[in-house]
Formats: sequence, C-alpha cells, structure tokens
Amino acid sequence: MSEKHLDKIISLCKRRGFVFPNSEIYGGLKASYDYGPMGVELKKSISELWWKEMTQLHQNIVGIDSAIMVHPDVWKASGHIENFNDPMTDNKDNKKRYRVDDLLYQQKNKVIDTLCDSLNIKNTNDNSIFDQIAHTLLNKGSDGEGILEKAGVVDPHSGSVGKWTIPVQFNLMFKTDSGPSEKTGKEIYLRPETAQGIFINYLLIQNSMRLKIPFGIAQIGKVFRNEIVARNFIFRTREFEQMEMQYFVHPSKDKENIELWKQKRFDFYLNQLGISKSNLQFYQHDDTELAHYAKDAYDIQYKFPFGWGEIEGIHNRTDFDLKQHEKLSGKNMTYFDSANDKKYHPYIIETSAGLNRVFLMVLCNAYFEDTENNRVVLKLPFALAPNKAVICPLVKKDNLPERAMNIFSNLNKQYPCIYDEQGSIGKRYYRQDEAGTPFGITIDHQTLEDNTVTIRERDSMKQTRINENKISDFLK
Ligand code: GAP
Repeated sequence: MSEKHLDKIISLCKRRGFVFPNSEIYGGLKASYDYGPMGVELKKSISELWWKEMTQLHQNIVGIDSAIMVHPDVWKASGHIENFNDPMTDNKDNKKRYRVDDLLYQQKNKVIDTLCDSLNIKNTNDNSIFDQIAHTLLNKGSDGEGILEKAGVVDPHSGSVGKWTIPVQFNLMFKTDSGPSEKTGKEIYLRPETAQGIFINYLLIQNSMRLKIPFGIAQIGKVFRNEIVARNFIFRTREFEQMEMQYFVHPSKDKENIELWKQKRFDFYLNQLGISKSNLQFYQHDDTELAHYAKDAYDIQYKFPFGWGEIEGIHNRTDFDLKQHEKLSGKNMTYFDSANDKKYHPYIIETSAGLNRVFLMVLCNAYFEDTENNRVVLKLPFALAPNKAVICPLVKKDNLPERAMNIFSNLNKQYPCIYDEQGSIGKRYYRQDEAGTPFGITIDHQTLEDNTVTIRERDSMKQTRINENKISDFLK
C-alpha cells in the first residue's frame, strides 16, 4: 500500500460516513476530525472488543472511568510538567516547523554518514555517534545550536539541508483554568494519558474490589496533546482516545509480565481484529527514546501507507509513578501483601493503545481495490462491520418494499442492518461493499411465491438463495 492509498481511504471515510474533517464549514480545524454514523459504530466495536478482552476475559482486571481534569499536582508528580516535551525546530528559510526526533530518526543513516564524513572518521555502522547527537538534541536543557545543520538534516518540505533554529523543548499538555476567572481559577491541564487516573485510584480500587497482585485496571478515554506536528489523517491528532491497562505486579516479576503482555496484545490484533501478521511488528525503544517513566518499552507497529507507525506501547513503568505520587501527596502508596505480611510498591506493566490509530489500521487492513470487478471493498471482519447486512427490495413496486421492510425490521432487532431501495441493485451492493457491509439480502418476485431471498456475500460476491426464516442463522 502506498501513500496515495491514504488519500483514497480518507476520501472513502468522508463519502461513506466514517470520518469527517472537523469544522469544515469554517474552513476546518487542522488535525481535528469527527466520526460519522459509520465511524462511531466501528470505533465503538473496536473499543468494546478491547474492553471485553481486557476485563471480562481476565478475572483479575477491572475497569475505571476517571476524570479528564485532575489536581495539577498529579502532573507534577508524574513528571509530565517537567518532561512531557517534544523538541521542535523551525527552518528559518520557509518557517516550516518539525519535531527534532522525527527529523533525526527518519534520516538516521544519512545523519551518521554526514557526521562520519565531517569528523573524518570511518563509518563502522555503529550507532554511537547518532546516539550522542540524539541525546544532546532530545534531552531537556541541552544546547543543540548548529548540530542539525552539521548533521546535514534535510527539510522534507524543501528537500535541502535546513537553516535550523536551536531546538527548543515544547510541553505537550493543554492548559486551562478551572473556575470562573483566569485570575482566581486554578490552572489545570487536560490529561495527556489516562494512566494517571488509574495510579491515583489504585488503592481504592484494590481495596474495594479485594484484588490481589497481580491485578490490572483498564480504562478507555479521551486524552489531549498539543502535538507540534499533527499529521497523517487520524494517526496523530491533538485530541484522541486511549485504551490503557495498568498491570500491578511484584517487582521481581516485571520481565515475565512484559513478555506476557507483549504476546497477548499482539495476538489481539491478529485474532480479534484480523490484522495481517506481515503488517505488524515489535519495535523496542533504545535509551534515547524511552519516555521519562519507562525502564523498558516496546511498540507494536503497523505498516501504514506512510510507513511503520506505533499503534500500542507496552511499557515497564516500574514503581516510578506510585513513588512519585507518594512523595508529592504524602500518602502511602504501598500494596499490602497479607499472605507474607509485607508492604511494597508494585511495578506496573502498561499496555497503551490509541483507539483512533487502531481504527485507521483496521481501515487500511480492510481496504481492497477489486480491479477485476471495478469496485472498492472494505473487508471488515463481521464483528467490526457497522452494518451486518443491507436489505434491498429488487424494485420499488409490487409489494417488494413492504416485504423487504418487514424482513429488515425483524433482522435489525438482532443485527444492525440497513434498508436501501435507492438505485440499481448493483449500485446498492457496491455502496455497501465500500462501507464494509458483509451481506446483501435481496427480496424479489420469487420471495412472494416461495419466501426465499438472495444473500450476496461481500468479498466473494457469491449469491445463495435461502428461506427468509433462515437469514438469522445464516448470519450467525
Ligand atoms: N500512558 C502511556 C502513553 O500514553 P504513548 O506511547 O505516549 O504512551 C500510547 O501513547 C498510544 O497512544 C500510542 O501507541 C498511540 O497509539 C496513541 N497516541 C499517542 N499520541 C497520539 C496522537 N497524537 N494521536 C493519536 N494517537 C496517539
């Protein structure tokens, strides 16, 4: 799949009611999108599958829905006020703005070559020279003047080495005021991750649900990040949803649990969402890439039309967050192990997926251009398809619409379906192929005689004639 496929998917999303550009009548708001009637259903199906997998199918994992706005000290303790920064730089010539880490990692090999040339050292393909400059440029407080130019970093927009400003750290949290006025109100932040709402409640949850380690707490919710560069449709936006689970384990069991969750999360994408294995991979963060709270981190990446991109992070957060909250709040954050009469700070293994990115991955995975039949098909798995069937009277006369509507009303109680009598039957099928509807059910004159209907299968286009009271079993 190439970059041009993304444009086709974006256009399909708008045409078929999945995703719309936000505030379009006012010229749009960059990197902000609304989910239409089909999109909201698809997003809901993905999050429901995740929720079922993480809570219902794990007896030791429970859910929570915590607030978006929390006491500002939460972000002091978590390190987000100090560390949740991205380094940014502008090209002085054309004023284009970039994240320094994006520029560096996308041009890694070229950067190493240029630096080896200019320093007159042999390029042994070891990464240490790159790691050094990445460390200088990406860490807070470092002075990176001139380094980007020396490293030959090219502006992707102009195609030549940029005249880069000194990288500055930009905090990604959105600030606002809680209370009636800016002066008297309290300065607060919109949460940039759902995780902290879990940490600050963990002992209340553990006590009320009488949980014993290992146990997990899951949450789905909106988060906000003032991204320097938002791009690639819904891949990177400033408002998005996370599906996070924090797993509390004994500190000696961190490694085995990170392996366990890597496997479980990978399998979820293969088995529950039907993602092709060849388009999924793990990527382990090196020291320069680790978030301030993580000791070890793995991304699950999907091969998007624009390249490999992270859909989920699996992190060993150690006891960093709990100890930080203990320090700042003065409240004891230890877990009491009654069997051994011991108190300790558990380690936390986190699984953190972006719902919108998973949504985009599902669309990319399903998008298929059937050139033989001159149609586009969204091969969504049955469980994810917003409508499971379209019910069509062959023509708009001879009582066929009434009969079709009757079948629709009954089936729709069990499966979300759609009724369509507009246009030729071929056009109606093709519309639904693009919307990912797995089955087309047509009511024709023969139906009036023998109660049979035609069921057409989206992917193979195979048609079968069955009795109308067998439709529900067929779909099952
Ligand atoms: N609590 C850990 C955490 O937030 P993260 O790697 O920063 O970790 C987790 O984010 C997931 O959230 C990512 O794997 C990605 O799917 C999603 N995500 C992050 N930034 C995003 C953005 N700007 N737009 C859409 N999704 C984003």
